[in-house]
Amino acid sequence: MTEIRRPETMERIATEAQAAAFIEEQVQAIRSQVGDQKVLLALSGGVDSSVVAALLIKAIGQNLVCVHVNHGLLRKGEPEQVIEVFRNQMKANLVYVDAVDRFLDKLAGVEDPETKRKIIGGEFIEVFAEEARKLDGIAFLAQGTIWPDILESEAGIKAHHNAGGLPEDLQFELVEPVRILFKDEVRVVGKALGLPDNMVYRQPFPGPGLGVRCPGAITRDRLEAVRESDAILREEFEKNGLAGKVWQYFTVVPDFKSTGVKDGKRTFDWPCIIRAINTTDVMEVTVEHLSPELMDHLVRRIIAEVPGINRVLYDFTPKPPATVEYE
Ligand code: XMP
Repeated sequence: MTEIRRPETMERIATEAQAAAFIEEQVQAIRSQVGDQKVLLALSGGVDSSVVAALLIKAIGQNLVCVHVNHGLLRKGEPEQVIEVFRNQMKANLVYVDAVDRFLDKLAGVEDPETKRKIIGGEFIEVFAEEARKLDGIAFLAQGTIWPDILESEAGIKAHHNAGGLPEDLQFELVEPVRILFKDEVRVVGKALGLPDNMVYRQPFPGPGLGVRCPGAITRDRLEAVRESDAILREEFEKNGLAGKVWQYFTVVPDFKSTGVKDGKRTFDWPCIIRAINTTDVMEVTVEHLSPELMDHLVRRIIAEVPGINRVLYDFTPKPPATVEYE
């Protein structure tokens, strides 16, 4: 399975009929690969893992065990949506792990960005491995590897994040049903499998989640300010027809305070920075310019609704020199 390559003559999947044919083909391939054995999947709720989950549920139903690790750095409503879509609607065998305290306790006081990333990645593997060890008789691990991952790892651009991260005692045969697809094709297949639009067409989201948007040492109150302001920004982009148009948009709450005034009293609170960017290859990005009306509205809502924020700033910096994320 791992050697399968995208045929050079393969047509780009763009229609529902093409997606249906691909789904049928993969369902058969999955069934012949795994038989009546069990398959494990780390289900983040991102596009790739969600489409893989939906494909495997169709192919093997309860023999797929999905593990959703809530590390406390997900966006508002995401863990709830994973439970709603996969456990309640698709009747998946879903293990939900509330690891929020575990991650945030480990991250407490850690300021260095690279150390934060390492802790989040390392802890994720540990939590996932613990869950895997509790389950008996699992021979397969499903992954949302897509074709650009393979091409980039072959070109030496980035290491393809496969099962390599798991400890020695946990070795599985891989099941990679979307491995020959480009991202746009994964979305078409996800839509055909009945996944909701806000899951299929979601903007990119980094693995370390909101952790990189809460620069410096993460505190629970500042993390909540990031989560709440991000939810307001997403809601307003949705309402104003920008959600499908702007490539990526989010908020950052840096670790410094400034003086303000509210109801005639002094405040000393954080700023909230809005970033909204467009790109095709992520190597170079340009900044989306919002209308003054929307900007005013966002400022008013964030100030009124997010505890701990007394200023809203807009990041007008392209990449280069600024990266998309702050850490
Ligand atoms: P930067 O900040 O490098 O971001 O300009 C480029 C794109 O990559 C996303 N990003 C990540 N994605 N794991 C991911 O899966 C990560 O650690 C990570 N860091 C950045 C970022 O959101 C942007 O779309």
